[in-house]
Amino acid sequence: IDLGTCNSCVAEYKNGISSALVNAVSKEFTTPSYITFAENNVIGLEAKQNLGTNTVSSFKRLIGRRFSDFEVQEQLKRVPYKIIEKDSLPFVQLQSGQLMSPTEISGQFLKQLREHTQFSTNQVVLTVPAYFTHQQKLETEKAGALANLQISRLLAEPTAACLTYDSQNKSSLNEYIMVVDLGAGTYDVSVLEKQGDVYQVLSCAGNNFYGGDDYTRAVQLFLEQNGVQVSFQEAEKLKHEMSAGLKEFKQISVQQIKNFINLDEKLEKPILQTLSDANLQPLQISKVLLVGGQTKQPSIQAKIQEIMKQKPLTTLNPDLCVAQGAAIQAGIMNGQISSVLLLDATPFSLGIETMNGVFSPVLKRNVTLPAQASQIFTTTEDNQQEVIIRVYQGENQLAVRNTLLGEFILSLDEKRPKGSPRIRVEFQIDQNGVVLVKATDEKTGKEQKIQVKFGQQREEKSEIQCLREELDQMKVKYSEKWSVEKLKAVLKKQRRRK
Ligand SMILES: Nc1ncnc2c1ncn2[C@@H]1O[C@H](COP(=O)(O)OP(=O)(O)OP(=O)(O)O)[C@@H](O)[C@H]1O
Ligand SMILES: [Mg+2]
Repeated sequence: IDLGTCNSCVAEYKNGISSALVNAVSKEFTTPSYITFAENNVIGLEAKQNLGTNTVSSFKRLIGRRFSDFEVQEQLKRVPYKIIEKDSLPFVQLQSGQLMSPTEISGQFLKQLREHTQFSTNQVVLTVPAYFTHQQKLETEKAGALANLQISRLLAEPTAACLTYDSQNKSSLNEYIMVVDLGAGTYDVSVLEKQGDVYQVLSCAGNNFYGGDDYTRAVQLFLEQNGVQVSFQEAEKLKHEMSAGLKEFKQISVQQIKNFINLDEKLEKPILQTLSDANLQPLQISKVLLVGGQTKQPSIQAKIQEIMKQKPLTTLNPDLCVAQGAAIQAGIMNGQISSVLLLDATPFSLGIETMNGVFSPVLKRNVTLPAQASQIFTTTEDNQQEVIIRVYQGENQLAVRNTLLGEFILSLDEKRPKGSPRIRVEFQIDQNGVVLVKATDEKTGKEQKIQVKFGQQREEKSEIQCLREELDQMKVKYSEKWSVEKLKAVLKKQRRRK
């Protein structure tokens, strides 16, 4: 299943062929990612024609995000439905007042999509943008579970597209392939190395804040500033006509609109980043594959050609190839395809917070999955009784600027001078990006671990988190440096006082 911001698609692998499934209601291969909540929910084209406060679109842009995120704030301004804040997270408020999380909405959508495309299996491969954060993947996986789907694998969208390309163009060449995927909500670039039938993701980069919706919004804004009010949908239609060569709209020159949009520059940075991470020059890439509806725009193709010094290939069906690739991966997983081997990579570095809030990566980004790495850390104070291990993902040198995945405590049984304990912190990450972190006191052999696992992170709060939350509720101030024991003692006192 390719669960897209704007369009979704389901494909199956059968008798050696991966083919998209037709939506039995609309008779189309793709289904607009819209859902109208009513007595009987409707999705797809019917919901898209039904815009109003009970129809939710672009919910993929909200999933796994916090309310204060730039993306959510932008979405707030442009959609007809209501987005409100609860526990710092975004929720959609329906006409009835009912609140729904983006995860629940995705789950309901998937449930209906399944009915419309009439597939019977529970086990699916679901694609996600390569550059999705851990939290976004986690919530996507939960959405699948709400639709009673068992997610066998979360596959990166560009990687899926590459599998489809491979199935349509069998060759024994060893080469480097770049996939540039600009959909409605996200931008992903991946570089893969092909050696016979083995595909290895060497690098990926992207921007979760950039996609076709931004182009549409820019068209709408320009018209608005020039006294022409159009809906988002009308602006989108106009954008497509501009790609097809339209020269004028309501006496406004299309060239003027194009000059105003000015978003193509955003294509460059992630492309250069993947090249440099893979240690390659543009001409060492033998094919640049285009994926995602927005790459149909001629100026985008021209910009990619300029950066890559070669014409990108437009032979893949940008609307279907991601779902078809997911089905091929399903075929690999259930043994129907044995020749192709796919080695995926992690898009972000993983590590822990060390002295002065510095982020120390243990597993660097772009490492091939599954992977494992460890590093030795030590204490910063004499007779320290415990160490707090805070696990982050990201590239910033300051831990707080990255995404916190979880935290746990390792108690040290013996009192020792600062700098003397050897604490081994080990990271393991599996095919789906599920992270296991283990800390071991090498002298005593004592260890603690957490699994930052899809579908579990929210429920499994650490003890320290729970204590801090309770203190927050009581409006009691505490220090980040306090140990569990100290937090417990303060809490006990507070409870007694109450
Ligand atoms: N001919 C065209 N010219 C310009 N843009 C187009 C054209 N056709 C489709 N698009 C744009 O492509 C986007 C949809 O692409 P696509 O269906 O690949 O996105 P998606 O898979 O739903 O999103 P994502 O992968 O980001 O989750 C929309 O913004 C749409 O307006
Ligand atoms: Mg897509």
